[in-house]
Amino acid sequence: MTTSLKTIDRTRLRSLMQREEKRFADERPRSRELFTRAKHSLLSGVPMNWMVKWAGPFPVFVKEASGARFVDVDGHEYVDLCLGDTGAMTGHSPQAAVEAIIEQARRGITLMLPTEDSIWVGEELARRFGLPYWQFCLTATDANRFCIRLAREITQRKSILVFNYCYHGTVDESFITLKNGVAGPRRGNVGPPVNPAVTTRVVEFNDLDALERVLATREISCILAEPAMTNVGIIHPDAGYHDALRELSRKYGTLLIIDETHTICTGPDGYTRAHNLHPDFFVLGKPIASGLPAATYGFTAEVGERILKRMQLEDCDTGGIGGTLAGNALSLAVMRATLERVLTESAFVHMIPLAERFAAGVEEAIKAADLPWHVTRLGCRAEYLFTNKRPHNGAEAAAAADFELERFMHLHALNRGILLTPFHNMALMSPATSQRDIDQHTAAFREAVSELAS
Ligand SMILES: Cc1ncc(COP(=O)(O)O)c(C=O)c1O
Repeated sequence: MTTSLKTIDRTRLRSLMQREEKRFADERPRSRELFTRAKHSLLSGVPMNWMVKWAGPFPVFVKEASGARFVDVDGHEYVDLCLGDTGAMTGHSPQAAVEAIIEQARRGITLMLPTEDSIWVGEELARRFGLPYWQFCLTATDANRFCIRLAREITQRKSILVFNYCYHGTVDESFITLKNGVAGPRRGNVGPPVNPAVTTRVVEFNDLDALERVLATREISCILAEPAMTNVGIIHPDAGYHDALRELSRKYGTLLIIDETHTICTGPDGYTRAHNLHPDFFVLGKPIASGLPAATYGFTAEVGERILKRMQLEDCDTGGIGGTLAGNALSLAVMRATLERVLTESAFVHMIPLAERFAAGVEEAIKAADLPWHVTRLGCRAEYLFTNKRPHNGAEAAAAADFELERFMHLHALNRGILLTPFHNMALMSPATSQRDIDQHTAAFREAVSELAS
């Protein structure tokens, strides 16, 4: 049972939802028309299955996006706080990326040969994140998969460890949760190749005793972790947690993969540098090429040496790490432009205070409505949760989820020109986001909570 059940009248919530669904449909005839047509060629009328999760009877079809805003096919303009679930944290189509795309596209897109941009990007990533060696692929999922394979190969250990309710992309090994203390496939896990309990151990974030018990088996090749969890709401690590985790992982010979695909919102050199972490592997995808498919993984010199010792020239293309388009000229040119001119230090100086403004506005509205909710923030990302107790781990955060309420909040926002991420209540700031955008959200949020609480 969620805390919000105490105060939210469900009958009222459902009638408010019906009102919002009607408004949504009435105001979007063109999106509805396209959705009807799409159902003939796209399963469920969407190009990717998770797009069915948007609140409302059909998804909003987009006409165009620029900066922090987009316009739908019915002519409505939206403040985009979803930003492609971090893929567009750069803002939509930033000028530097568009220029790089045009320039490189004229000069060749993919060759299976390196370009000089790859060196510039490798050097910049080393400067920012402190790891010497880098490789490139197309998605953060792939980067995580490759790091896991490499970790298993060089440690010659079979298992990996993840945290309960983590999300690292469509990585088979990571779709595992704890239910009454027993590990098994996560709810909704589609066609798992094996029960992930065979490949993976799972413990709660912030629980050092549980972590040590598993690491002490000396069977764990790597820990795959976000430095602060972001995919079940934001969960910050306890003070000293990362130092202890690193000490334990070294003690038991387990490698540490830090996945910064979302926590790059902390600052230009990630959570890793801001909090002085020392991972063996580092993963970054999504916004690194302003939303063009691109991702990277870096590792220490020691890991690099261990990898080279086990690689055979003849088999290096069929070892399970690859991708024909990986490291292509276009994505590297755009990564360079993004790192050089978009996700800069000064961009974060603009973005982080906006997230603070978002959090302050939401907090004030929650207080005024007297709801048992709270808001939390990590750099330029903020999120509200339907509980007044800050979750300390994945199970606590998952227990506070409220799908019905979440959908209402999202649809209410959408009808007032604001897009939140479809998966929880997350808002992200881009270099193009303005105070006016945030204030538009605060006003809509205040209206929603006062309607819910009255
Ligand atoms: C922390 C983290 N890592 C990796 C991924 C996977 O990214 P992609 O779907 O672009 O492969 C996600 C996606 O949400 C993520 O949140």
